[in-house]
Amino acid sequence: MDATIARAADIILSAKHVIALTGAGISTESGIPDFRSRGGLWERYDPSEYATIDAFHERPGKVWEMLFDMVGLTRSARPNPGHAALAELEKMELLKCIITQNVDNLHQEAGSVNVIEYHGNVSRLECLSCGTVYEDREFDVAEIIKSRVPPVCGKCKVMLKPTVIFFGEMIPQEATVRSQEAARNADVVMVIGTSATVYPAAGIPLIAKQNNAVIIEFNIEETGLTNYATDIFVRGKTGTTLPDLVNMIKQ
Ligand code: APR
Ligand code: ZN
Repeated sequence: MDATIARAADIILSAKHVIALTGAGISTESGIPDFRSRGGLWERYDPSEYATIDAFHERPGKVWEMLFDMVGLTRSARPNPGHAALAELEKMELLKCIITQNVDNLHQEAGSVNVIEYHGNVSRLECLSCGTVYEDREFDVAEIIKSRVPPVCGKCKVMLKPTVIFFGEMIPQEATVRSQEAARNADVVMVIGTSATVYPAAGIPLIAKQNNAVIIEFNIEETGLTNYATDIFVRGKTGTTLPDLVNMIKQ
């Protein structure tokens, strides 16, 4: 394992434009289950019934059953050493940006600044009727989770939706443009804790690969990307492998 991390460290040190694509796997050690591993969120909630924009339009109360769990888990979670390692790489000017599929805000809480939220963020709420966007601090979120009563729009009285991207929704335009530009400029992409199964996010490493970028994957198990596009596979928990990488770089 050290030899693989040493190779990854050498490549990152000699690179000009390193970016990272992160998924739910980087947050599991903060207590937030991922989606597709055993015990993941989609084992408990069928995404076709709880995570599509059509499901929210038709049965928002039912979708909020899953959201109460998701919001509750993200609120009590804190960044882990994997998030901290990426924030340190950015401070060392070795990581240009993080494109995250996660909505838990943990990269920002760990100190990362240049974070592209590809699937939105759970800490804002929007009204699909009048378009008003609320910050979650305008609500007693703890009370919402405890009472399991969904928040409603002050104007329209319809149930609000967290500004996370559901299946069937478009990726925010700004996130699309910024991440495609980051991928085109990258000479190294760290693909971290993602099953790389959901597009268009999973296509980001492939955009960089077209410009001969080196793909370094960090995961506890191989993914569909591993044998297709990955150049270096760092097996292990990101709460360990990412700090190991930073320590290797500092040596
Ligand atoms: N360290 C490293 N890898 C981990 C760890 C860990 N501690 N824990 C889990 N993983 C890996 C799993 O092996 C898996 O490959 O993280 C990956 C998580 O994959 P998914 O659960 O599919 O999550 P993600 O890839 O982020 O899903 C993408 O799908 O449901 C949508 O919008 C949702 O953003 C999400 C998107
Ligand atoms: Zn409204």
